[in-house]
Order: sequence, then C-alpha cells, then structure tokens
Amino acid sequence: MVKSTKIYSCHVPERSFTAGRFQGIADGGIGFGQTGEGRTKHPLYQGSEVDAQGARPLPTINLTYVTNALWAGNFGTFDVNDGTESSWNYDTLTQINFKGFKGLEANNQRALIVHRQIMNPVLAEELGYKELFDEAFPDIPVSERYSRKTVAFAIAAYQRSILTNQAPFQEFLRGNHDAMSEQQKRGAILFFDKAGCVNCHNSPSLNSVPHEFFALGVYDMYQNPRETFRTSKDDRRNLGRAGFTYRDEDMFKFKVPQLYNLKEFGFYFHGASKRSLREVVEYFNNGVTENPNVPKDRISGFFHPLGLSDEEMDDLTEFLANGLYDSNMLRYKPDFVMSGSCFPNNDPLSRIEMSCK
Ligand code: HEC
Repeated sequence: MVKSTKIYSCHVPERSFTAGRFQGIADGGIGFGQTGEGRTKHPLYQGSEVDAQGARPLPTINLTYVTNALWAGNFGTFDVNDGTESSWNYDTLTQINFKGFKGLEANNQRALIVHRQIMNPVLAEELGYKELFDEAFPDIPVSERYSRKTVAFAIAAYQRSILTNQAPFQEFLRGNHDAMSEQQKRGAILFFDKAGCVNCHNSPSLNSVPHEFFALGVYDMYQNPRETFRTSKDDRRNLGRAGFTYRDEDMFKFKVPQLYNLKEFGFYFHGASKRSLREVVEYFNNGVTENPNVPKDRISGFFHPLGLSDEEMDDLTEFLANGLYDSNMLRYKPDFVMSGSCFPNNDPLSRIEMSCK
C-alpha cells in the first residue's frame, strides 16, 4: 500500500544531493526521470501554485560546515546572524531565529512548512516512524515528540553525517600523495595561489567558516532562459544577503558555497546560469560580471581578470571536477524508507520511471 505520496526530490543522492534540474520543483511537480532531470510542473497546477524556490537548491552535503542555511544565511540564531535580530521580524519564516536554534535545525523546521509537509502522532504511526521517534527523543514530552521540530532535529543529524571524505584531494591531505593526478595537483596549486580561489573558499569543505558573502554579479534565477516558477525581478532573494538583513553593505552578496562533488550538479551559481565547471572557471578568469542589475561598485575586489592560460583553466577545472570528487556518496542513501514509499519521489509517474512496485 502506498501510504504517502508526499515525497519530493530537490536533493537527489545520485546528483550529489542537488535537484538534477536547474530549479527544483517539490509539491506541484510530477515525474523524476533517472536522476531528477525529468521533473516537470504537474498539469493540474498553475505555475504560481508550485513549490519552487527563487534560487538553485544547495546540496545537502558537508552541511556540518554550514552554520547558517540558504544562500543568504537566513536561518540560525547564532554565528553570522548575531546582530541581525532586527530583521527577523520582517519575514514570518525567519522569526524562528528568535527561538535559539542552530542553522540546520531552524532551516529544517521552516522547510517543512514551506514544502507543505506535516508530522503528527497519527502520521508517525502510519508511516512506521513512531518507535524510532520514541527511541531518538525520550526526553521530549509525548505531546511534542512527533512534530516538525523533532523531524527537523532528526534530519539535521542525518545531514551532518553526509560528508565527502574520500575525494582524491582529501586522500592526498591524509598523506596518500598518489591519490591525485599530476593535472589535479597543478589545478590545486592554481586554486590556492595564482587563481586566488582560496581568498573566499577556505574551510574544510571549501566554503567559508565563519560564513562570508560576496557579490560576483551572476544572473538570478528569473533571468534563466528556461521557464521559471514563483520568482521574478522583484524577488527579494535577488538581493542576496541584503534580502534577509536589509543592510546596504550586504546588497547582492551571496554565501560562499562548498566545492565538493560539483560535477554532478550540472548547474552552477545561485541562478543556475552556468552549465559546466569550465564555464565557471572562465567566468572567474574573465572577471567580467554578467548581471546588469548589479552595480560594479558592489562587486568583490577579489573578482578581477586572472590571466590564466587555456591549459591552466583545464587544470583548475580538472581539480574541481575530479580532485574534489568523492565517488562513493551512495553510501549515504538508505536502502528503503519505513513508509514503503518510492523515493526520492512517490508520485505515480515517478513510480513508473523508477520501477517502484
Ligand atoms: C570573492 C570571493 C570568491 C572568490 C575569489 C572565488 N569564489 Fe567561487 N564563489 C564565491 C561565491 C560568493 C559564490 C556564489 C556566487 C553566487 O551564486 O551568487 C561562488 C561560487 C562558486 C562556484 C559554484 C558553486 C555552486 O554550488 O554553484 C564554484 C564552482 C566556484 N565558486 C569556484 C571558484 C573557483 C575555482 C575560484 C577561483 C578561480 C573561485 N570560486 C573564486 C566566492 C568566491
């Protein structure tokens, strides 16, 4: 028996936990294809009704190095959101920051609302999760034990376990110097030296901790030539960190994202304006912005022409694509889910496409 059809995929394990599509569609979408590329709007939904976001989904990998979730760092009471309290009231979703949660726990509770999902004792029982909740949360009173809050905590704990740690560069750092090819080594040297990538990408996951936000002047989601849903020129998310903090100095600045397992994403930057890592490297090398809405004086001083040769760009691309690639991520994919639903997707078309019984 199919107990739940509410399973959707913006974080597909086979795509290194991104959507497989430039803009994820949760509720209001149908189908999956092989790895999420085949998902489309359900014919019975208007475009304005689907659950889609105004920026490309970030991968749910290496989140243990993420203190404040989303491209603008909206969620989480602490860390870089210290001092942003006055903006939490502007948006009902970020009011949760007043409650004292870390980024992932705050994000997940709000995500369950945004993505139209519920949890209650009846559902926990029906889907086969009640006992697991009892085991995981014995100290939480029964009246609150099967709720969005506990679901958020459980998912955050799982998310912190999804780590890339078998990439050639990581093996190299452990002392196995043969793990990287010569080309990957040349690319790494460029990354940490001449190309200046490390000025911004400098944590263990190559995001930045504490989080930093920079304007690179890339296109926003609504400027994508493909059909987009529920975003437009007026989307506050186009303002980057300032869309959340309302601070002038944060205008058009986006969070420095992690750089592992990128080659499976297929779409890069918050507006998904690049289709390949080579295009991303060329963008940084040219040092010329693409989005006319972002004034030049807002752009980071680290973003300027780099003078890399074609061969150097190849080397840097190879370092990103394969030097920073852990090929064994399916170890984090469960073999089944308790509800018996087909996953990542459980709508009738996806079930056929994924050969679920
Ligand atoms: C000024 C700081 C800065 C520098 C320098 C920098 N980056 Fe980034 N990088 C960012 C930010 C911020 C983003 C997200 C931009 C956006 O989408 O608006 C980003 C995005 C990326 C992405 C896309 C990731 C994704 O999930 O879409 C890749 C790949 C990347 N950078 C690689 C590099 C490489 C390679 C270099 C060196 C040539 C470099 N970066 C230099 C700040 C920087």
